[in-house]
Amino acid sequence: MVIIKHIKDIENLARLQKSDSAVIGFVPTMGALHEGHISLIKKAKEENDLVVCSIFVNPTQFNNQNDFKKYPVTIEDDINKLEKAACDVLFLPSVEEMYPPNEQSEHFKLGELETVLEGKYRPGHFQGVCIIVNKLLQAVKPNSLYLGKKDYQQCMVIKKMMSEKENKIDLYVCETVRETDGLAMSSRNMRLNEIERQQALKIIASLNLIKDNIKEGSLASLKRQATFFLEKNGFKVDYTEIADASTLEIINEWDGKRKLVALVAAFLNEVRLIDNIIL
Ligand code: PAJ
Repeated sequence: MVIIKHIKDIENLARLQKSDSAVIGFVPTMGALHEGHISLIKKAKEENDLVVCSIFVNPTQFNNQNDFKKYPVTIEDDINKLEKAACDVLFLPSVEEMYPPNEQSEHFKLGELETVLEGKYRPGHFQGVCIIVNKLLQAVKPNSLYLGKKDYQQCMVIKKMMSEKENKIDLYVCETVRETDGLAMSSRNMRLNEIERQQALKIIASLNLIKDNIKEGSLASLKRQATFFLEKNGFKVDYTEIADASTLEIINEWDGKRKLVALVAAFLNEVRLIDNIIL
């Protein structure tokens, strides 16, 4: 695997590959890689001539400085995992490389997507995600982009950002990889102690509670039930919501037909976990 640290070098590599008609697949990450990330690399590997993964803990998407400072960094281990998965290129830029001093940051029109759910509880987060993903796409110039359904709203935001930019990159949204007991894999799981790790299982249990009990009509009491279930298991809940699966419009009355997604964000002490399931 080639490791590249500078934008001009990744641009040159992409240009060379493209002149050779190579098809490039891209997997952006913040590192602390786990099987969820690796599943994206493997999928990209099946469908492209060259797979580029980026590792960059992006400061502009953290609305909480403590979360940023405590974000796990396991670069040696990440490189080993990427090599094992036969990733071709790792783009590993510095903060100075991605954010040169005095640069004006772009603002993206994200509409309602920016103000609901994660947007509401993490102000500025999705602008930060769009700023960095846009810069990475400009540098790597991939044919396809691979994202995980685990970050459901992020996928929709990036899709919107790409359509605003009239970007012709194909977007593939890949299934959430879970531990055998159902916990969605996440770099933040590393920060859970043994007791919290057990408690964390209640996240998927709350989503299953919604899935198993949803009925046409008012959804208010079901949402309350799911929130209460998490609270009684030690979580501080940001939201347990049910939304339209294709627009993320919050649904309070269900006609029994619209395709829905249930989404949860909750804290276990200092660690914020998110998950979702299609209903
Ligand atoms: P990060 O949290 O490292 O995730 C990188 C990619 O891996 C995202 O597309 C995410 O949805 C996917 N992913 C995470 N956990 C997964 C799981 N359990 N199963 C399948 N895919 C999973 O998301 C980010 O980084 C950043 O916001 C980024 C897009 C890189 C921009 O900085």
